[in-house]
Amino acid sequence: MLTLLVGGFFGDEGKGKIAAYITLYRQYKYAARTGAINAGHTVTHMGRSYKLRTVPSGFINPETFLLIPPGALIKLDVFTNEIGELRVGNRICVDNQTGVIEEVHVEREKTDPLLRTIGSTFQGVGAAVSDRVLRRLKLARDIRELEKYLCDVPLIVNSVLDRGEKIIIEGTQGTFLSLYHGTYPYVTSRDTTASALISEVGIGPRRVDEVVVVFKAYVTRVGEGPLEGELSEDEITRRGWIERGTVTGRLRRAAPFNLELAKRAVLLNSATQIAITKIDTLFPETRGIKSWDKLPSTVKKWIDEVESYLKKPVTLIGTGEEVVDTIDRTRDLGVEL
Ligand code: IMP
Ligand code: MG
Repeated sequence: MLTLLVGGFFGDEGKGKIAAYITLYRQYKYAARTGAINAGHTVTHMGRSYKLRTVPSGFINPETFLLIPPGALIKLDVFTNEIGELRVGNRICVDNQTGVIEEVHVEREKTDPLLRTIGSTFQGVGAAVSDRVLRRLKLARDIRELEKYLCDVPLIVNSVLDRGEKIIIEGTQGTFLSLYHGTYPYVTSRDTTASALISEVGIGPRRVDEVVVVFKAYVTRVGEGPLEGELSEDEITRRGWIERGTVTGRLRRAAPFNLELAKRAVLLNSATQIAITKIDTLFPETRGIKSWDKLPSTVKKWIDEVESYLKKPVTLIGTGEEVVDTIDRTRDLGVEL
């Protein structure tokens, strides 16, 4: 079974937590993460918080094998530190053709005025992607230190599916940061939608079973670019929606949940189901609730309205930062995961 996990807004929807929940509680034996080190995913599990820039969030399941696909980009120091800290070196592999970001890419971005205008994270990702397009980027197979981690990700993933086992692909950033479908030029350097995920990994569209699009209960955006309904900093503080970027530490801009944008994300990704995170920030009385029945009726109504507008089931609902703080409606709604 192949499940894709995609951000529905501008990144930071809480994909890390949802990916971790699915991998752990639905026993996915394989987890891949696309994208690059500009994207930070946060996973809080058993009182510990992990900030991930390379390793798939599903690492919290000790039985899960972790994959870095050919379309992803890693940076040697970030990769080495992260796998060391998380102690996952014996259950992760990097595709031979994964792109490698080097210091020259970080340096080159520093002097780019356009990147300042769009509010880049300056991690060298765009510069490395452009070198790849020009066929001069180094790949994982060219780096001696990566030799012992090298593998053939498309072969592994397709074999896993042939055996009927489960694999989750975790996307990074969000639909409207997509180079093709986002708010260009205020976007990242890759397509972030579901189709790009499978292309980055090396699987065809006919093998996809579920596409989970993750929304947060309100919309945030770091860096520049349009944000409909944007609230003032005072109002964000008053509502308790203050957040900072995982990689850059920048204050995130915020706006109320946007149904139109969500509908477009459902369309662009062919969503089959929806996850909504941070419902406890919008409705504090829901904090830590783990079953649908225990939700106040006002909150159920809010979710029902989202569901009927988007015409897709809301299967997972986040009620706190811990992975376990999740309402899982998949069985009740008859949806596979
Ligand atoms: P870049 O991809 O780092 O050059 O950044 C381009 C735009 O995408 C900027 O507005 C960034 O803040 C945004 N961006 C890149 N990665 C992420 C992410 O993981 N979460 C949220 N925004 C991101
Ligand atoms: Mg993030």
